[in-house]
Amino acid sequence: MTADGIRQVFREAYGHNPEVVGIAPGRINLIGEHTDYNDGFVFPAAIDRGLLIAASISEPSTQTFSVQIGNGEPFDVNSVKPGFSDSWSKYVAGMGWSIIDRAEDKLPNLKIAVDSSIPIGSGVSSSAALELACGVVWNFLAKLVLDNRELARLGQFCENRFVGVNSGIMDQMASAMGREGHAMFLDTRTLTIEYASVPDGLTVVLCDTKKERALTSSAYNERRSQCEMASQFLGVKKLRDADMKLLDATKKHIPEVVYRRARHVITENARCVAFKSALAQGDLNLVGTLMRESHQSLRYDYEVSCDELDSMAESAWAAPGCVGARMTGAGFGGACVALVKTEKLSQFIESTLHIYNLASGLAGEAMSCRIVDGARLLEA
Ligand code: GLA
Repeated sequence: MTADGIRQVFREAYGHNPEVVGIAPGRINLIGEHTDYNDGFVFPAAIDRGLLIAASISEPSTQTFSVQIGNGEPFDVNSVKPGFSDSWSKYVAGMGWSIIDRAEDKLPNLKIAVDSSIPIGSGVSSSAALELACGVVWNFLAKLVLDNRELARLGQFCENRFVGVNSGIMDQMASAMGREGHAMFLDTRTLTIEYASVPDGLTVVLCDTKKERALTSSAYNERRSQCEMASQFLGVKKLRDADMKLLDATKKHIPEVVYRRARHVITENARCVAFKSALAQGDLNLVGTLMRESHQSLRYDYEVSCDELDSMAESAWAAPGCVGARMTGAGFGGACVALVKTEKLSQFIESTLHIYNLASGLAGEAMSCRIVDGARLLEA
């Protein structure tokens, strides 16, 4: 859909033109999984599966319409509280609730229409994109001067305090700060970004298992508490500050499962740093090895993979043109990300989906992705 398309959707839903139109992308993550809430390193990129938004100020309540899901529950942004609803509009409400403190007075209520091309349940951050899309239009219509980094922080605040998922900041930063043609090496402690161009001749492919993610928020929050427990055992602020020497020296005092969770985070941080150099040097063998090791570590140490993700990763590894592949996002279903030699793209997709289907009985889907810019207004 285009800016004109979402304007048209808005007109049909509300009977007049919107004041503003914006866009926020979904993301893939090349490497650095479950490291962000440990103050570690991640390597995401914003993709051309995104969410268009059209909005206008409208009192006395905020109304929401999604092309994919229909109407969300309305609310007054100045009185809404966490726990308000299970409707998809909780992300809109949560973003407004998070922004209120930055407004001098009240925040205006909005009419909002959204259209998303981000597959839901595939682990490519449809919720962060919705938060950022709402962030950019509220920022404009309420005449605030928040930059995209700040909107990303507020998106994470919304997720943690309003929605109730203790997520890190990777998804919101990727949707906010993406840059066309570049992945971003992000230090989640300082929020500094080193943009890294994806080498010519390689394409990012999202290999969706079509197994919807399940049980994510409880299992996710559990992993996060295990990491916090590990930090306490090791006497460090966050696992970012630990290394394998320290972990192994403390091994006999730590529950076995907590040891494995910490080992994943410590080795994944190191892999993310090594990946940055390997990509810059065009060492594609190392890029592939690191992605495979990341998947195995998520599978055996962190235990956030599932049979379908394992089958998809194995199918991709065996396919022509595959440089590297691994599960991406929180896990427990969703998608793998693969870096593929562009000249072999169609063979890669055909072979991966065929082998995956034989192994799992499921019809997966593979989409090549362009890497795009982050959230912004398209028209005001
Ligand atoms: C989800 C969270 C992110 C990150 C990933 C795992 O996408 O929202 O903050 O923790 O899982 O890397």
